[in-house]
Amino acid sequence: MADFTPRLVAVDDAIAGGRVAARILLEALAEDTAGALGVATGSTPLTTWEALAEQSPRPIDRLLVGLDEYADLPRGHPQSFRRVIERQVADRIGVPYERVIVPEGDDSDAGGREFERLVERSGGVAIQVLGIGRNGHVAFNEPGSSLQSRTRTVRLTDETRSDNARDFGSIDDVPQRAFTQGIGTILSARRLLLLAWGESKSTALRSALTGPIGSRVPASAIRLHPRCTVVADRDALEELRHVEPRA
Ligand code: F6R
Repeated sequence: MADFTPRLVAVDDAIAGGRVAARILLEALAEDTAGALGVATGSTPLTTWEALAEQSPRPIDRLLVGLDEYADLPRGHPQSFRRVIERQVADRIGVPYERVIVPEGDDSDAGGREFERLVERSGGVAIQVLGIGRNGHVAFNEPGSSLQSRTRTVRLTDETRSDNARDFGSIDDVPQRAFTQGIGTILSARRLLLLAWGESKSTALRSALTGPIGSRVPASAIRLHPRCTVVADRDALEELRHVEPRA
């Protein structure tokens, strides 16, 4: 398996990181005129969406492809990732809601396959934004997920449900299951952009960038992609101080 070194851009904080990330997204979309913008939800990309709205001279006329979605939430639930993407991304950059797609379906793999076919038919993903979980997950691919995995239904770990309880009030209200793009699915995007801010991500980021590539740390799979950029702030890079950033 080829092992690539992601381009690493070190920034002071999430605000500066969001500006850099927005620039990278706009450059990628300008070069890749057919592909979708792959979006992550969560707190990490918020400054990127704000900066993207500021930096883009016009509405961004692209399909927005989400990484994942909770199962067992009613359609239109305010914490469903589809609604989050509509509010946080589509509203800001002028994408109509019918151009937002997220993995969804049922317990079979048919929904996942249909989602992937739709993305492919629409021109694929030009650049996929990723966050990283404290346990090294990407999308909802928890440790143990196969690096070849495709879009499917997964059971969320207690750690992830407790991290996401902030959006629901209590961990009991966080769904137990979700739909997620697989690691193999994510690797089929034409570019990847992983963002990480804050000390709570430093161990996961170090493992992803310098540990063995494997399913124990799903985010380590980004090193299998030839066009991946990591934008991280000083705190997230705390455990990687010996690594020379490449701007
Ligand atoms: C969100 C997603 C998750 C988050 C990760 C980090 O769509 O797929 O993998 O990127 O849990 O979450 P934050 O950014 O809230 O720390």
